[in-house]
Amino acid sequence: MRSHKTTMVDDVELLPRQDREAALADAGYNVFELASDAVAVDLLTDSGTGTMSNDQWAAMMRGDEAYAGSSSFEDLEAAVADVMGFEHIVPAHQGRGAENVLYGALVDEGDTVLNNAHFDTTRAHVAANGADPVDCPVDGARDPDSDDPFKGDFSVETARRVVEDVGVDNVPAVVLTVTNNSMAGQPVSVENTREVAAFADDIDATFVLDACRFAENAHFVQQREPEFADDTVADIAREQLSYADACVMSGKKDGLVNAGGFVGLREQDDLYEACRQRGILYEGFSTYGGMSGRDMAAFAVGLREAVEPPYVEERVGQVQRLAGMLDDRGVPVYQPAGGHAVYVDANAALPHLPRDEYPGQAFVCELYLEGGVRGVELGRFAFPETERRDLVRLALPRRTYGPDHLEHVADTAAAVCERGDEVTGYEIVDEPEMAELRHFSARLEPLQ
Ligand code: F0G
Repeated sequence: MRSHKTTMVDDVELLPRQDREAALADAGYNVFELASDAVAVDLLTDSGTGTMSNDQWAAMMRGDEAYAGSSSFEDLEAAVADVMGFEHIVPAHQGRGAENVLYGALVDEGDTVLNNAHFDTTRAHVAANGADPVDCPVDGARDPDSDDPFKGDFSVETARRVVEDVGVDNVPAVVLTVTNNSMAGQPVSVENTREVAAFADDIDATFVLDACRFAENAHFVQQREPEFADDTVADIAREQLSYADACVMSGKKDGLVNAGGFVGLREQDDLYEACRQRGILYEGFSTYGGMSGRDMAAFAVGLREAVEPPYVEERVGQVQRLAGMLDDRGVPVYQPAGGHAVYVDANAALPHLPRDEYPGQAFVCELYLEGGVRGVELGRFAFPETERRDLVRLALPRRTYGPDHLEHVADTAAAVCERGDEVTGYEIVDEPEMAELRHFSARLEPLQ
């Protein structure tokens, strides 16, 4: 039984097939261009799309909208210190705002930044600062069938080789993304976090944790890392975060809010000061940073809710259930499932499509045409420069959809797989200059 009930409703409608066909063609076969009214079950992202609690809504009513010295900022700062252990924050409007603040302060032209896997906006911010983003996933991360419990881990061995190549002075930051969104939402162990901290210390780099999904990651650690079997998610999260020098946070994920983010720092040192000044320039004064007082108030409550056992167990449990339903219907999914999303392996689902015809994007389009379900491609279309499988992510917004929606999604995906050999590939007919951001706005056409 779910540990919460619904007291506000938002209608869901499945448009007729011909309307979906017209909407997708108008969108240039890019689901980012679809109106949300044209989507029945929206699994595009788990970012900012979740449902807030009544406590969060109540906190919003008390939001302090002062430009400077807002008490809602103090509430947020206190929640971050309690839940995540960072005493100081530079607030930002969302995760990528925090990335701009931090990486702009840390990274110079010609540098290299190491990450277990860069997410698209992280990669773009590193590149925009003239640096080279290099992924260091562990062996097996790209294997959808390996049952390694921590396929999100960072390979220190790979990272050491990169450092030898580029020179130790050119690596200002080592980043660990928990959970690893670009690697199928796989978790990172605390043991690996300790190793990465030691490595970053060794090469004198700043160790940054991308903490967007820190609570979901801590839940996996509790379930899978024997040392932590008897610890609470709250304690594990604090411990894992304690190894990092800094964190970037998008409140739109495990902050359980629709907007907001921050850079978390330990001391008010030079890095903090550089971030604070960049924050003022790009985000807003240092006690709001692009958030309204109401946003910060809801964020403070959401962070505390994210580590509560009934919430996080149910959250990750729902994703596991969707993976099981897809698997039962013969849809090839990356196993084990991630914390926020199920990743369908489009290369296995549509084996007749060559990789340069974007099988992942073809699968995304078919999900929409078949059942009005919106997912997102995180394969060759989204990450043109990297070697990866063509995965399609079905991300579950937090506390939002119920079992019947999941049934619909699983039936839709199964129907696509059943007539998979009829599915054609795609070509890109228009794309933006910055390759890292291609999938947000490129237009495609089906190949005949
Ligand atoms: N880091 C990671 C690991 C992310 O997944 C995201 C966003 C960001 C940083 C940037 O945060 O959106 O608040 O600016 N991921 C979303 C997604 C968009 O769909 O996975 P943001």
